[in-house]
Amino acid sequence: MTEARVEVKDLEKRYPVQKSVFRSAKDFIHAVDGINFRIDPGESLGLVGESGCGKTTTGRMLVKLLEVTGGEVLLQDSGEVIDISHITDKDDLKRFRSDVQMIFQDPFESMNPRRTVYDTIAEPLTVQRIGTVPDREAKVAELLNLVGLTPAESFMFRFPHELSGGQRQRVAIARALIVDPTFVVADEPTSMLDVSIRISVMDLMLKLADRLNVSYLYITHDLAVARYMCDRIAVMYLGKIVELADTEDLLGHPMHPYTRALLSAVPVPDPSYQRPPVEIKGGISKSINPEPRCRFYDRCPIAREDICGVQDHPPLEEKAPNHWVACYLVDKQPA
Ligand SMILES: Nc1ncnc2c1ncn2[C@@H]1O[C@H](COP(=O)(O)OP(=O)(O)OP(=O)(O)O)[C@@H](O)[C@H]1O
Ligand code: SF4
Ligand SMILES: [Mg+2]
Repeated sequence: MTEARVEVKDLEKRYPVQKSVFRSAKDFIHAVDGINFRIDPGESLGLVGESGCGKTTTGRMLVKLLEVTGGEVLLQDSGEVIDISHITDKDDLKRFRSDVQMIFQDPFESMNPRRTVYDTIAEPLTVQRIGTVPDREAKVAELLNLVGLTPAESFMFRFPHELSGGQRQRVAIARALIVDPTFVVADEPTSMLDVSIRISVMDLMLKLADRLNVSYLYITHDLAVARYMCDRIAVMYLGKIVELADTEDLLGHPMHPYTRALLSAVPVPDPSYQRPPVEIKGGISKSINPEPRCRFYDRCPIAREDICGVQDHPPLEEKAPNHWVACYLVDKQPA
């Protein structure tokens, strides 16, 4: 591996479908279906797509909350590469736990309701026996100040139910960053917050990422949020990455029919990106034992039966410099 901080190779997650009158035990949801990407040190990659396309499943595999069913996740740590999808060594696991953190959509998920804010934020330090108690208190107070929960002393000993949603998410961010991780998966971290405080939480995450040189996988269904937060964007559809490029390139020159449709449906806050609407037929379905053809075939406005309907899902190819697209009908641009 080169200097990428995280590299995902042919990553796959299949969930068995409950056996029923209509379904045999051999049916699987192909939630994540052989995806590849890399995230460089300090870089933020956005993972964007509609509900059910596999974003959370991907994020959870990257932090080892879910086991992979195929492929690998490689993490660079001080010049060494750890395959986190197959860690067996205890020291590697410990190192991984401080290197990689996750911020959830619902901060309640990462909090024990019976533990105070101090206990919650300091937990990664306590578990790994980092610093003395006064050191930890000072560090927790510093982070509370950084995430805007001031005065810190008035928040330290509150319980999660005594905080607003926004305050809880700030606690979750402080907790994720207290061990100085190198890689953070953030799963829709602002989608449950009031619109009025979303930008300040996003600014906070950007500032802290910059200060700590953290790499992010930033999961969102909102292209405007991805634009604000991310250097590059990967667009996902039914378990596949269908387009991946630098943020402004992807938003300014979307090539995949699905990305084009998403962009026409979601206003991106810059008038220069407005384009005529494109209809997406139907709704996203579950990818159960998918047919060997393009996953977007049923909804694609330009699908061709003789090309797209008779071949397996198209490979992700570099159609323009650093601009990757999985579509048979998008031509490679001349260099
Ligand atoms: N534990 C599970 N068992 C079975 N199927 C699951 C499980 N978790 C997720 N799925 C299915 O896998 C697919 C991907 O789900 P996932 O939660 O990763 O999507 P998502 O992109 O995060 O969606 P959202 O935007 O709604 O959060 C969906 O079809 C979902 O129903
Ligand atoms: S391969 Fe065909 S069906 Fe798939 S996105 Fe491209 S044009 Fe549409
Ligand atoms: Mg999700």
